[in-house]
Amino acid sequence: MNSNSFVSIADISKDEILDLLSRAEYFEAHTNSKLLDGKVVATLFFEPSTRTRLSFETAVNRLGGRIIGFSDPGTSSSSKGESLKDTIKMVSNYADLIVMRHHLEGAARYATEVTDIPIVNAGDGANQHPSQTMLDLYSIYKTQGKLTDLTITLVGDLKYGRTVHSLLQAMKYFNPHFVFVSSPELAMPAEYKEFCRVEGIDFVETTDFSPEVINASDIIYMTRVQRERFTDPLEYERVKDLYTLHDCMLADSKDNLRVLHPLPRVGEIDPDVDDNPKAYYFEQAHNGMFARQAIITRALGINPLK
Ligand code: CP
Repeated sequence: MNSNSFVSIADISKDEILDLLSRAEYFEAHTNSKLLDGKVVATLFFEPSTRTRLSFETAVNRLGGRIIGFSDPGTSSSSKGESLKDTIKMVSNYADLIVMRHHLEGAARYATEVTDIPIVNAGDGANQHPSQTMLDLYSIYKTQGKLTDLTITLVGDLKYGRTVHSLLQAMKYFNPHFVFVSSPELAMPAEYKEFCRVEGIDFVETTDFSPEVINASDIIYMTRVQRERFTDPLEYERVKDLYTLHDCMLADSKDNLRVLHPLPRVGEIDPDVDDNPKAYYFEQAHNGMFARQAIITRALGINPLK
């Protein structure tokens, strides 16, 4: 296993998180460079993506590297039955770094066990999405001026939403207060609540996305109900529209409140929120490019700050 791999946010220390945030800040000020001259990055997306794949690929391009890979596994030999192990071993012959998204939880971890080149997890099932977490942390830091002592309200699909699982783990260093807003069917899994208890993270759970909850929040993190993770389509239909944020609901919110969403959104944020200065989800996605430049350079052992 290559120790520069980035599979889970839980694998890296507070200092490493802060280093990645410093790098992201650097890349926001110095977007184009030749730091990856001669390097090839493979993006293997076994699941659909817009932001993650394109921002990783833009990051590589802006760093002067080259891209190979696929966005549709149907065009790769995995559609002929080639195993993940063989795919990773083959691509390792061609690339210096693999960025991969896969529907199976643990797929990225498994990939690290069959290659010596670094693996960056771009999402594995309902498990982890650590590069999203880095852009979320960067967005929180930019909008709040700090990461500590914030009230963060997570809304929607807290069961299958891998972004909230990764964010929860990363925030353990920053004394957050979490509010989990979801239906009982999509509640935060027990293992993450246990994580909060063990780490001393303060949280409350509610099904009510009430004015009191909204008006006490520094960050509202809306999430999409993850249709692709449901085995029962009827259950999806029952829960998919339970929480929608409208502009009028923000009328008495804190001045510093920002609304985040990893995107894509379906019905969770009405478009009437988009023009509210507290809507930050499009800027958040933009920050993804800088966060991913940070992650790529770390994975390849390149330090732009030196
Ligand atoms: N936030 C996110 O992972 O978006 P994509 O699925 O479009 O990559």
